[in-house]
Amino acid sequence: MLFEGKRGLITGAASGIGRATAIKFAAEGAQLTIGDRNLAGLEETAALMAIKPVVQAYDATDYASCRALVDVAARDGLDVLCNIAGLLKWGPSETFSAEDFDLLMNVNASSVFVICQAAIPHLLKTKGVIVNTASTAALQGQPYNIGYSASKHAVAAITKGLAIEYAAAGLRVNAICPGHVVTPMTQNTAPPEGVDWALMMRNAPKLLDGSCEPEDIAEMFAFLASDKARKATGALFTVDGGQLAG
Ligand SMILES: NC(=O)c1ccc[n+]([C@@H]2O[C@H](COP(=O)([O-])OP(=O)(O)OC[C@H]3O[C@@H](n4cnc5c(N)ncnc54)[C@H](O)[C@@H]3O)[C@@H](O)[C@H]2O)c1
Repeated sequence: MLFEGKRGLITGAASGIGRATAIKFAAEGAQLTIGDRNLAGLEETAALMAIKPVVQAYDATDYASCRALVDVAARDGLDVLCNIAGLLKWGPSETFSAEDFDLLMNVNASSVFVICQAAIPHLLKTKGVIVNTASTAALQGQPYNIGYSASKHAVAAITKGLAIEYAAAGLRVNAICPGHVVTPMTQNTAPPEGVDWALMMRNAPKLLDGSCEPEDIAEMFAFLASDKARKATGALFTVDGGQLAG
């Protein structure tokens, strides 16, 4: 098993990619703390996991609760941190509110930095690993998606910067860039008025059935968080059914 004896923290575990990753890591022997603002969703995830996790609600916009989440997760030491919680809001840039832009930066980027910052002293003791969640939106300009894309470019910068800062201490930091994944985030977000679909669809997956399932992304989390990826740090790993290939 990949994570026998390892202790981990997974955020965003009430749903989608975070839930699939928590289930995968527990099946591989990890003792986890799972965090999200959706407590009922966390409990549902916990019921699906092979090893019962510690369940802890937090709100990514409240940095004190981010730090408290790490304190709980690291009580007996911490080997792995997966930052997966995130938020999507999009629409034509002329009418996109500054408040929503700030919210995306808070939830998707600033809270990731705060959680990494709180976890690093613990991860240095274990020569641990961080896996963040960026997006294909971290790697290109995306129409109608400026706030989200900016927040995910920030995740890429946080990932690469921390990787360099702590590489000599044995801490690895990587990020995954999923393309379109079938989760509540993408299924429940109705397209806003006034988008040009031809512009949007230039980014469609190229593989037959190219949209990813959450489990496809969980596999990459497991690989990067395990010793199998011991030489990978400071890198962005795309899983997108060929969206960015051309
Ligand atoms: N679904 C996709 O196509 C896709 C593509 C690229 C990247 N991503 C990224 O993958 C990650 C997971 O997304 P998903 O598709 O599984 O979506 P999801 O909506 O199923 O899960 C996101 C989780 O984050 C939690 N969350 C949101 N705001 C929070 C807050 N303020 N505090 C605490 N928790 C909060 C939600 O409650 C939810 O459980 C996100 O970072 C997302 O940006 C998703």
